[in-house]
Amino acid sequence: MKKYLVAAAVVITLSACSTGTAEEEVKVSSAIPVSQKTVEAREATAYVKKPIEEMTEEGLTVVHNPESVAVVVNKQRTLPEGYTPEDLTVPDVDFYFDEFLPKKQMRKEAATALEELFSAAEKDGQQLVAASGYRSYERQKTIFNNYVEVYGEEKTKTFSAIPGTSEHQTGLAMDVTSAEMSFQLDQSFRDTDEGKWLADHAHEYGFIIRYPEGEEDITGYTFEPWHLRYIGKEKAAEVHEQSVTLEEFFGFMPE
Ligand code: DAL
Ligand code: ZN
Repeated sequence: MKKYLVAAAVVITLSACSTGTAEEEVKVSSAIPVSQKTVEAREATAYVKKPIEEMTEEGLTVVHNPESVAVVVNKQRTLPEGYTPEDLTVPDVDFYFDEFLPKKQMRKEAATALEELFSAAEKDGQQLVAASGYRSYERQKTIFNNYVEVYGEEKTKTFSAIPGTSEHQTGLAMDVTSAEMSFQLDQSFRDTDEGKWLADHAHEYGFIIRYPEGEEDITGYTFEPWHLRYIGKEKAAEVHEQSVTLEEFFGFMPE
């Protein structure tokens, strides 16, 4: 019986690694049958093959997988210089403005998922309105610098990403609002019907609310009930189920 329990523990540990690790390949020695290993033995024989990651002069890690839907960018992890997604497209959803602007775009897979999300919301009587998706490095730089002029750098960094570290540059994020919000992005969105629907259902379409309330110490940013990040249905369901941040899910906790 004891042997059986140990085997189960090993399987659970391995499955957590395989689903929760974005950038690491975990390999386990098979010299000893798994059923005979203790968890400690597994840890001793396991090794992690980490991709070589560059650091910037500012001490940020340069992500090696900017094109992955599982990419993690945050205050410690930046996109490579000059990164632009190659498959940007405009999702067929309602925006609060009519003309084409680059911020209407998302990467193809995320755009299709956003269309499914908005259709499902509409069927449930919720009218979501898209506000801002893809931003180039230069656009994020302009936005960030404008905020700095108004709020100063320290305050700005609590809600706006320094250029190179914004999820909007990945093409996998979309800020969402509603007519009730007068199409503004405000934390009170959480208390509206659309905001509640989004929090309950976004994961079913592959999105997470990337900057949850009360997790500022981990994500680095104040609560953004409007900021959707596409990570794929399977992972989004797990993040939702576990009620964790992307940093916790992928093991990229700030030091
Ligand atoms: N508001 C989010 C953190 C960004 O600037 O990307
Ligand atoms: Zn956003």
